Amino acid sequence: MFPLRRFLATTAKPLLQDVVIVGGGPAGLSLLAALKNSPTTKHLKCTLVEALKLQPVRDFGEDPPENFHNRIISLTPKSVQFMQEKSGSWDYLHQDRVKFYDNMVAYDSQDSDARIHFDASNVILDLGALSQIAAMCEVVHIQASLLQKIDALNEELPEEDQAVVIDEAKVVNIIAGNACDTIDAKSNPQTSLDWPVVTLSNGQVLQTRLLVGADGQNSPVRNYAEIESRGWSYDRFGVVGTLKLQFNDFRDIAWQRFLTTGPLAILPLPEDNATFVWSSTPELAEILVKVDEKIFPQLLNAAMTLDEVDLNYIYKMLKANPADMTVLEEIEWRTSLIPEEDLDEKFPVPISELMPGSRARFPLKFLHADTYIAPRVALVGDAAHTVHPLAGQGLNMGQTDVGLLVDALETGVDRGLDIGSTLVLEKYVATAWPNNHALMGVCDKLHKIFSTDAFPVVALRGLGLKSLNYFDVVKDIMVKAISGR
Ligand SMILES: Cc1cc2nc3c(=O)[nH]c(=O)nc-3n(C[C@H](O)[C@H](O)[C@H](O)COP(=O)(O)OP(=O)(O)OC[C@H]3O[C@@H](n4cnc5c(N)ncnc54)[C@H](O)[C@@H]3O)c2cc1C
Ligand SMILES: *[C@@H]1O[C@H](CO)[C@@H](O)[C@H](O)[C@H]1NC(C)=O
Repeated sequence: MFPLRRFLATTAKPLLQDVVIVGGGPAGLSLLAALKNSPTTKHLKCTLVEALKLQPVRDFGEDPPENFHNRIISLTPKSVQFMQEKSGSWDYLHQDRVKFYDNMVAYDSQDSDARIHFDASNVILDLGALSQIAAMCEVVHIQASLLQKIDALNEELPEEDQAVVIDEAKVVNIIAGNACDTIDAKSNPQTSLDWPVVTLSNGQVLQTRLLVGADGQNSPVRNYAEIESRGWSYDRFGVVGTLKLQFNDFRDIAWQRFLTTGPLAILPLPEDNATFVWSSTPELAEILVKVDEKIFPQLLNAAMTLDEVDLNYIYKMLKANPADMTVLEEIEWRTSLIPEEDLDEKFPVPISELMPGSRARFPLKFLHADTYIAPRVALVGDAAHTVHPLAGQGLNMGQTDVGLLVDALETGVDRGLDIGSTLVLEKYVATAWPNNHALMGVCDKLHKIFSTDAFPVVALRGLGLKSLNYFDVVKDIMVKAISGR
């Protein structure tokens, strides 16, 4: 995917850096903030490169829009702690846009009495006052808070130690330093270093002691390092969007219903705002993004309450005509058959509105890199792993990676070692990889348990959720996944 290495011949002599981070997503920005926030690593020369414009992200931080952005994730207590203690970005979040919740209800579409309810007491984490299961927060909001923290840290640092953020610049070429044969090593001895050389689309060239790939699923840095990433596509899509509830639900519950097509979650946001994540088959996802915005809230209500036989009938009508208003009557009379007290107690507050234009769909994948390090290279975040959003772990795993990588680099600096050496980086992969692997296994297992209609599994599921043993197993899996343990 990269042009020929001869590309370098036309460019200027590289600027030397200790750390170059590719990617200004939540993982890359967290790493930059955490490195500059640590007394041990703050003197390292760090540059972050992001292909997209970051001004809209900064604008969000200064003056957040009235409506919620549609990419919203659930932060684990561990991530919150990371933001408080390591990246130091927590105080830059607009707290009125962050929603803590302390209850989670998960139930089965085949039998609504088969349900799991757990609260913060199941999530045993020693976080003092923080007794919530998780906090809902927009991804762009997390990025904005990190940029603000980086700016604030820069103000306290001497100019030569300040973090540099280059946006609207794509990394177009990466080569191993000792492959720089186009630059004369005698006239420019720096280029005889074995440090990777990174060329940007704006013509800038950086040579770095450590190159960090925080560059997402298709990571160019991972390709450069020739690290294999294994996995599969789930043949499922995640459809997301933001919502208004009929009224403010003071119960602070995250709801999840396991449909045979995949789980549907309704997650709380401040006041009467909410968001949904609907994992579905490609056919269903196609319908979901097309359904008329006036029908969609009722479709969500139906999907949280009605039998799947009814749902399939409704999907069929909407497939034929996504603006078929008679669907509303179909849903209404079917819902009227559910006892009122069940509607009040067993299900989420009905949704009244879909925020216009807020729906989006993305393919679900499972990908795990064989390792997170190579000589002078480390991977963090989605570059290292992509998971099913079932337990909302994607971004949280990235925060954990960053925390562990910073720990390893701090140890390296303390011992006077070269932070790009495998000796230093090994500690990172040794701690991060096995944990992520276990957590990814849990998310994958949940997906397999709940989204298949192969007969034995369905039968087991229907019977099983009620049996205490199975109930405890699933509960344990979910608590582990959600708390990031
Ligand atoms: C549409 C969508 C919805 C999602 N919804 C959820 C959800 O509901 N819950 C959940 O837990 N997770 C969700 N995820 C996953 C979650 O957003 C990711 O886990 C998280 O964003 C990963 O952060 P990251 O920083 O590792 O990678 P990314 O956010 O992917 O950031 C990588 C960055 O690298 C930049 N980049 C890539 N290549 C180059 C290059 N060559 N040069 C310069 N820059 C480059 C990209 O522009 C990008 O900004 C969703 C993801 C998507 C795409
Ligand atoms: C959430 O909803 C309330 C009331 O409907 C509204 O005033 C508020 O601005 C919303 N919050 C955001 C961040 O959109």
